[in-house]
Amino acid sequence: MSLIACQRPQLLRICRTSVSPPFKRLKLVRCESTSSSQPKPFYCTTPIFYVNADPHIGHLHSTLLADVYTRWNRLREPQRGAVMCTGTDEHGLKIQRVAEAKGVSPKELCDGVSERFRDLVKAADVDAAVFIRTTEERHRIAVEHVWTELEKRGYIYKSSYAGWYAVSDEAYYAENQVAETIDPKSGEKYMASVETGTRVEWMEEENYKFKLSAFHERLVQWLSSTPHPVQPPSRTTALLASLSQSSSTDLSDLSISRPSSRLTWGIPVPSDPDHTIYVWIDALVNYLTVAGYPWKDGQGTGIWPPDLQVVGKDIVRFHALYLPAILMALDLPLPKHLLTHGHWTMDRFKMSKSRGNVANPFEAMSLWSIDAIRMYLMTKGGNSASDADYSEAEIERFYKKELAGQMGNLLGRVTGKKMLKKLGDERLLSTEPEQFEQEDQELVGMLRELPDAFEKHISTFEIHRALSLLFETLAASNRHIQTLSPWLSTATPSEIHRSLHLSSESLRIAGILLQPFMPTKSSVLLDVLGVREHDRGWEKVKFGEGGERDKVGIVKGGGGLWPPVVVASYPANVSA
Ligand code: ME8
Ligand code: MG
Repeated sequence: MSLIACQRPQLLRICRTSVSPPFKRLKLVRCESTSSSQPKPFYCTTPIFYVNADPHIGHLHSTLLADVYTRWNRLREPQRGAVMCTGTDEHGLKIQRVAEAKGVSPKELCDGVSERFRDLVKAADVDAAVFIRTTEERHRIAVEHVWTELEKRGYIYKSSYAGWYAVSDEAYYAENQVAETIDPKSGEKYMASVETGTRVEWMEEENYKFKLSAFHERLVQWLSSTPHPVQPPSRTTALLASLSQSSSTDLSDLSISRPSSRLTWGIPVPSDPDHTIYVWIDALVNYLTVAGYPWKDGQGTGIWPPDLQVVGKDIVRFHALYLPAILMALDLPLPKHLLTHGHWTMDRFKMSKSRGNVANPFEAMSLWSIDAIRMYLMTKGGNSASDADYSEAEIERFYKKELAGQMGNLLGRVTGKKMLKKLGDERLLSTEPEQFEQEDQELVGMLRELPDAFEKHISTFEIHRALSLLFETLAASNRHIQTLSPWLSTATPSEIHRSLHLSSESLRIAGILLQPFMPTKSSVLLDVLGVREHDRGWEKVKFGEGGERDKVGIVKGGGGLWPPVVVASYPANVSA
């Protein structure tokens, strides 16, 4: 049982229960002694994914972003504690229909596919995550409580809906959000959402509505507050622009139930079993469920509100408008940040389970290694403002040029037996030379600036900038060692010392900063450099402050940090 966090007196600490790693359940335990100055644990969430099909690279991307931020927080504030959650969204018409089509019960479908998402979390080396399924009892209790509270507070009323609904998005669309579309293959004409291109159905039915319109002003205020809760800023701008249009239906009252004659697979409305709760209300409550809602004594597990919610840009509206409005209605604190990332595309089309143009994350990781795929996704997809096209050829280029070419190569150069022999005393690797020369200045400057600049980019959610800065530093380091060429017989002792020391510092600093991104490889890298376990924290990241080292090691199994990959074995369903 490990203590993650203690908050204020009388609050709760979070303990690990017997669920097998890497999954945790949060258990509530009274806290005996606490310090009021300690912040609550960092709480980071991913969307919960539909179980209509197996996970693809896009789902892995959101999960990794959350993992990276959670691990980053552990690196920066090890005392604080950090909880990450992910899971599966299992109710709704979409799942009901897929199960029907497959001739299985919805529960059977959910059990099978949910397990694949769990497998993905394990396969991708995501640090202990809480995994939530919306078919769990604890979740039903939370959803019922939210409904009853909203009803009690006067935010729910009975009404009717006549309009469009997209089962694939599980979303309602107004008249101006749909258009006639023609299927290029069959020539069939149908109505589709302009935003997502998915087919919509006309429906007229009695349902319950949530008074979303009552929150217009408060939502605009919240969205405009600084620092902007919704990131990247371009999406805040887009949301505010849309809300300011007089024709905007974004904040019309929201239908939040379907007749149970049509939707059986869901949580019944507590006061009216003839209706089933709309799957998005059900789904959005998962973040509260994980935090122990409904809490009787104030705080549940003590992690609410989320410090960071990671979602794809396809579901911004639900997280930037609906969830905050529901929380406002319940008088609960709002999430601090919502990171909305772009999409992975395949040949420029959004990778999607429904379209079927997906890359298999398990195969990609088994071919290139877990950490190579983690690094690739975070580097190329790290600019959340834009989409990124997934391509095997790009992965190969990135692997060879950046990972093996810059990082692996430099490590090989610095820790090669011959080179260390030339250096004479291994301890010189971590010993600063008496003075740096003109040709060292650029690299020394970059190394001095790297940790803070890296952190700044992470805190403004510009992961691609953080990582490209790090790779630029490694490239500068490779240029530096090339210039000083310590392997030449003409190299002076000073050139040998300076070049190897600076290369080793570059790799040490990179290794510490990359721990959240490539947990296994960074540990191999730091092991080989002889950096001790307790010298891998933020306080040791600064240039020249690494502490004493153990003896230089070797990468076990040969082949270096990033061994050559036989590319002939591209998985068949992944196009190059
Ligand atoms: O929307 N690129 O589930 P979902 C990047 N259950 N990320 C992608 C992606 C792509 N091509 N495709 C999917 C749902 N994602 C609801 C969410 S939350 C309370 C309920 C990721 O299975 C991205 O995070 O359709 C996107 O928002 C999410 O998966 C949608 O997953
Ligand atoms: Mg989707």
